[in-house]
Parts: sequence; structure tokens; C-alpha cells
Amino acid sequence: MMIPPPDDFSGPIYRDAQRYDAEHWWKTDDIMFWQRMAGRYGPKVLELACGTGRLAPGMLEAGGSYTGVDASQPFLQLAQSKLSPWGNKVRLLHGDMRDLALKETFDLIGIGFNAFLHLLTDEDALRALRTVISHCHPETRLVIDIFIPDPIFLYRPVDQRVDSMTYVDPKNGETVKVTETNDYNPESGQNKITWYYSLPGKPDFLVYDFTMRMLYPDTMDRLLSEAGFRIEAKWGDYEETPMDAESALQIYVATPAQAVGA
Ligand SMILES: C[S@@+](CC[C@H](N)C(=O)[O-])C[C@H]1O[C@@H](n2cnc3c(N)ncnc32)[C@H](O)[C@@H]1O
Repeated sequence: MMIPPPDDFSGPIYRDAQRYDAEHWWKTDDIMFWQRMAGRYGPKVLELACGTGRLAPGMLEAGGSYTGVDASQPFLQLAQSKLSPWGNKVRLLHGDMRDLALKETFDLIGIGFNAFLHLLTDEDALRALRTVISHCHPETRLVIDIFIPDPIFLYRPVDQRVDSMTYVDPKNGETVKVTETNDYNPESGQNKITWYYSLPGKPDFLVYDFTMRMLYPDTMDRLLSEAGFRIEAKWGDYEETPMDAESALQIYVATPAQAVGA
């Protein structure tokens, strides 16, 4: 059955791969973490929602093989060009993490940098987790990295803009400023985020929105368990500090609760 894609990756957020990499220049704090995960739990790695392959070089440096799956063709094209030095250790596939059937198992399955929050309902999240289970052997580790939502951020007035990021446009060297608003629906747990791109003299030359689900640790516990996983570790940062009330991140290491196989 074909599942309709989440509105997110048919929208502009995941269409312009160069812009995505340029605007996320600051996101480097997870690279060594994923390299360590690949070294510890690999060598055969599957990354779901791999995007432009930002995390792949670090994981490949750990020495194993890497399969990346993403729903955005432009992102995969950029990933392909970045990862060509690793030759046949890399495989990139266009696909939906809710609906994948590779008929093989992996040692480490990773979902990094909030990609799990694109699964907007329990149903979508469970579909994705059951897809993961179907690619697990008994010792497989699933590692998920998402942030812990901050109520102060979620309950801002819907028209209140805050600074989000600044980046240099690689096409022309101009410094682009991005501000954002958000509109949180506590019933669905979905947060509609709008990004406004501005240049001096060209305010809001690009505006678009995308939706992410805000997930708290109790819901993650329930979803992982319902999908058949046992949680082995919960960390609150990339240094593997146990998650607590002060943590900014929720990072899960999970393994199948019962015997599984491809
Ligand atoms: C925040 S980016 C993270 C990309 C990459 N993992 C990184 O760390 O830079 C989210 C990615 O999820 C992908 N994505 C969203 N929903 C997806 C789905 N259902 N199946 C596969 N990829 C999906 C998007 O295309 C995008 O590349």
C-alpha cells in the first residue's frame, strides 16, 4: 500500500538541498556521536531520513557499510555526490521510513536530528517503528535522536517572531537571516513552524511552513514498547549523560524485545 508522504517533504523545506546544508552549518555536535554509535553497534548501518548525508561520513569513518534512505530526491542527489569517495560501502535509496521492505537486517538503525518528529501521528510513528523492527536481528540497536520540547517555546504568541539562524548563501555569498513563528496544537501535539528568510532590503523573500510533532519521553516509551522494542538506554545529550528533567535531548537506544529476523 502506498502511504501518502507527510506534507513536510513535498514542501519547500526538503526541496533545496544546498540551502538545507548551508542553513544547518551550525549543526555539528552530533557527528562524533553517530560515529561512535556506528563503531559500537555497527558495522552494517541503516540511517532512515538520512537527508543530504550529513551524518554519513562520520559513520563511514567507523569502518562499516552505510545505507541511507530518504524521501527527498534532491537531498539524496547531494548525499550521493558527497559520499562517492566511499564507493560501494554506500547505498542511497529513495523511500519512506514508514514503508520500507529491504528484506535484510542491519546492526545499527539510526534516525538522527529530529527526523522522527516528521511522523505526525501515533499511527505514522508506529508504522515507522514496525518498519524498523522488520529490518532488525535480535542484536540490532535502534538509535533515535530528538529534542525535548520546551513549553516556553511552544506556547509563544503565534505572531511572535524569534531569531532562528543566520547563514551564508553559497550561490552569492549573501548573509541570510531566518526568523520563525510557531503555532502549537496541544491536542494533536503538532507544531506548525513558519520560517521567514530575509536579506537587507528584501524582507521575507522566502516564507514557508512545516509541521513537526512534539513528543515527550512518556510517549516515546509507549511507542517504542508498542512497536516491540525494549529501551536499553535513554540519554539527554551526545555525551551519553542519562536523560533527566534538565535534558535538552531525548536519545533512545532500543533493541527488539523478542526474537525477530528478516
Ligand atoms: C531534519 S532532516 C534530517 C536529515 C539528516 N538525518 C540530518 O541529520 O541532517 C529530516 C529528513 O527527514 C526526511 N523525511 C521526512 N519524513 C520522511 C519519511 N517519512 N521517510 C523518509 N524520509 C523522511 C526529510 O526528507 C529530511 O531529509
